[in-house]
Amino acid sequence: MQDLPYQALAKAVAALKSARYLVALTGAGISVESGIAPFRGPGGLWTKYGEPSAQDYQRFLADPKAWWEARLEDERSNRRPEFKAYDAAEPNPAHHALAALETHGVLQHLITQNVDGLHHRAGSQALTEIHGNRYKLRCLECGARFPRQELAVVELPPRCPACTGILKLDTVMFGEPIPDDALVRCREEAARADCMLVVGTSALVRPAAELPLIAKHYGACLIEVNPEDSALTSSCDVALRGAAGRVLPQLLGLITGAPE
Ligand code: APR
Repeated sequence: MQDLPYQALAKAVAALKSARYLVALTGAGISVESGIAPFRGPGGLWTKYGEPSAQDYQRFLADPKAWWEARLEDERSNRRPEFKAYDAAEPNPAHHALAALETHGVLQHLITQNVDGLHHRAGSQALTEIHGNRYKLRCLECGARFPRQELAVVELPPRCPACTGILKLDTVMFGEPIPDDALVRCREEAARADCMLVVGTSALVRPAAELPLIAKHYGACLIEVNPEDSALTSSCDVALRGAAGRVLPQLLGLITGAPE
């Protein structure tokens, strides 16, 4: 177990193995090794382009047709490099390790802030995407979600096949409330956890950043996997300072004996 202090690793493994109800929370950091830039810090998207306006969602509601026209033009013109990174990305060993921990019955639920769909593609099933999924559409009226590739966009804005409401990308925009179904589920899972594994998040964006604190309030052990300190570090019981793609396969091997 090179690099990671043995003490910290042993403490994390003991907590993960003895957990009755383990929940994981992931952020952009877990997808960095899949080629997707994080949002903050060096090379971050917001570091480069600035954070989107908190009015994003209101702008969409004011003229959904114009929003969709601009979005489709961005996609056609290939002028957003991050779109290419998302579409070229594959799940990395960290995503696969979390899916394996679920298969082994160690991980009970995974909450991700990421919209890249990589956890789902790695095989995670007990999964809540608190910020949505960029490959799905969601109806503003009835909340139904549809895989984007299965819905031919014949008019703009696209309409819900179930209720004819306006469809938006499932990705939660700045200024948009988290859909109730996702938020209620995330809070329930956090309150139920007796251990939470927090991977690759700066823990700056609420309500996602509150979830580890809800877990801790109910007595959960918090384990962080991140090369850097985050806003959550001071509340964590163990901080494993390393890249998710290296640390999570190590944890999987130590917990289940599965080859790293
Ligand atoms: N392994 C683990 N963690 C990593 C790695 C890695 N290989 N590389 C970077 N990190 C860490 C960084 O140290 C940082 O703490 O990942 C974190 C990324 O932080 P952010 O870019 O702020 O991403 P995130 O916390 O997911 O942002 C939350 O903000 O803008 C919104 O909707 C967006 O879901 C996003 C939310």
